[in-house]
Amino acid sequence: MKIIGTGSAHPSCVVTNDMLAQFLDTSDEWIVTRTGIKERRLLSDEELKDLAVDAARKALDSAGMQAKDIDFIICSNVVNEYVTPSLSCLIHEAVQASCPCVDINAACTGFIYALQMAEAYQTAGMAKNILIVCAEEPTRMVDWSDRSTCVLFGDGAGAVVVTEGTDLKAIKTTNASKTEVLVQKRVLQPTPYATKKSENLPLVMLGQEVFKNAVSSSVRDLKEVVSKAGMELTDIDYFLLHQANIRIVEFVGHHLDMPKEKFPHNVEFYGNTSSASIPMLLDEMNARGDLKKGHKLAFSAFGAGFTTGACVLEWSMEK
Ligand code: ACO
Repeated sequence: MKIIGTGSAHPSCVVTNDMLAQFLDTSDEWIVTRTGIKERRLLSDEELKDLAVDAARKALDSAGMQAKDIDFIICSNVVNEYVTPSLSCLIHEAVQASCPCVDINAACTGFIYALQMAEAYQTAGMAKNILIVCAEEPTRMVDWSDRSTCVLFGDGAGAVVVTEGTDLKAIKTTNASKTEVLVQKRVLQPTPYATKKSENLPLVMLGQEVFKNAVSSSVRDLKEVVSKAGMELTDIDYFLLHQANIRIVEFVGHHLDMPKEKFPHNVEFYGNTSSASIPMLLDEMNARGDLKKGHKLAFSAFGAGFTTGACVLEWSMEK
């Protein structure tokens, strides 16, 4: 598999830490020190599907492809306004694709799961060109009076087009059966037979537990995929980690004994955009011309579940 196109889209509404401090007992200093986040983008007028379609179109353009060239669409998403049809169906309709499509929910690890699925579809001969769109609005999952969660998130979408190739050197995904550290629940339509009590529960997070799990799983997964790829950690040019918190990124770098410069980040401008964070960062770096042919990249993500995943690939896309 190889990545041949990237794209991203962000809501226009920028919310700074000082804006949050107008209605929450928080401060720019607290948020920046604990998370690195300075501002985030929030969906206001737009719908998430608009961002998803925008990112998808940009990735197709960047790959020099049209929707008719795509054999399969995978959309990674945790929450959006539609329960059905899936977000991938809405993207499919907007870009006028003619292939099958599916949504997956592996929380913030969705991009790595989608890459692994794409590789499996290609290996099985079921698809050649695959559009992966990660589109997320975690700001609609949190309680906006809970300062310990709502300051962390932002909305956005990132997309890639992949085709057959040998750039992907190693990939792994895991699940640790730790469902209590990060959870949100919603009430479904009532039935005459549903007797159990259900409740709308905004996102509840055991922050320190998530932090520890994120650092240890990312260090473990990265070491494993780099070794599986037949490489040393020092061979990797850039480690693109899920952008949840700058301190998690820094801790992982420290535990791997790798220089800070190898860990690009943009969490300061977007907050945690769940599975969209790595493809958004990848697109930003690609647009800036940071990625050169032959660069070795490692991705690592973690999220509710507790899902984790990592991969190593060699960049071959000419800008
Ligand atoms: N502003 C000011 N004070 C706050 C805020 C805030 N926004 N939020 C919490 N506090 C207070 C708490 O109430 C607490 O006060 P107390 O000591 O009077 O009780 C104090 O700050 C310390 O709270 P902790 O939760 O212990 O703070 P911690 O240092 O652990 O930082 C944080 C919290 C930033 C959430 C940290 O635990 C973390 O980064 N965890 C990982 C979170 C994460 O990355 N989640 C997403 C990953 S998975 C995914 O992407 C879905």
